[in-house]
Amino acid sequence: MKIVGILGSPSVSSRSGTLLQHAQAALQDVASSLHTISVRELPAEALLHAQFDHPLIRQALHEVHEAQVVLVSTPIYKAAYSGLLKAFLDLLPQDGLRDKTIVPLATGGSIAHLLALDYALKPVLSALGARDILDPVFATDPQIPKHDTEGYRLLPEVQERLGRTLQTVVARNDEFLRQEDAAREREALLSRLQVSSHDDTTRWASSDVRWST
Ligand SMILES: Cc1cc2nc3c(=O)[nH]c(=O)nc-3n(C[C@H](O)[C@H](O)[C@H](O)COP(=O)(O)O)c2cc1C
Repeated sequence: MKIVGILGSPSVSSRSGTLLQHAQAALQDVASSLHTISVRELPAEALLHAQFDHPLIRQALHEVHEAQVVLVSTPIYKAAYSGLLKAFLDLLPQDGLRDKTIVPLATGGSIAHLLALDYALKPVLSALGARDILDPVFATDPQIPKHDTEGYRLLPEVQERLGRTLQTVVARNDEFLRQEDAAREREALLSRLQVSSHDDTTRWASSDVRWST
């Protein structure tokens, strides 16, 4: 299956980033492609000025377009998802998440805004065409403590909840593989049609020339 992770944290060392990394690691064996879009690493001006023709913005949008599974990970900011994430989601086409399976992930200071994913993020995902939104995984900061040496680690209870949601994704691997095969066949057929219609055009052009002499 083709997977992309979108990370909406502005921090270099990030809890929502750690949650996303664990999710991606758990799906590695079933992934035919696995990309990460860390929105903070996109060029800020191109992002904020909606420069769709910037190569890095184009590449990120293409990765979302190609993906079958989209992991969306964000810190909770001011009782909602991050503005950074929204800046990127605003660049997606109106139906940019249609026919994709979405896994919402978030970290917050406490459980106070646990429902932010339901009342804030999910409506945006739906507006982008997403109809297959899996159970969100939310973790508080104490559930993702600092690692002894570097970064963060997930407490077992978070790993367990994450594992349960991702199990649904893994269980659908055959379905995703069939979709990939069908897409490949469709592309092959289309490119054959384009080649043969190009041949025809060439023939028409040369016949036209013959007729006119
Ligand atoms: C500007 C800002 C606003 C925040 N607002 C909230 C909030 O409303 N509710 C909450 O639970 N946590 C809030 N937090 C805490 C972060 O959501 C939390 O620390 C999160 O794990 C950070 O994720 P990150 O390390 O991936 O950036 C806020 C943090 C910052 C910096």
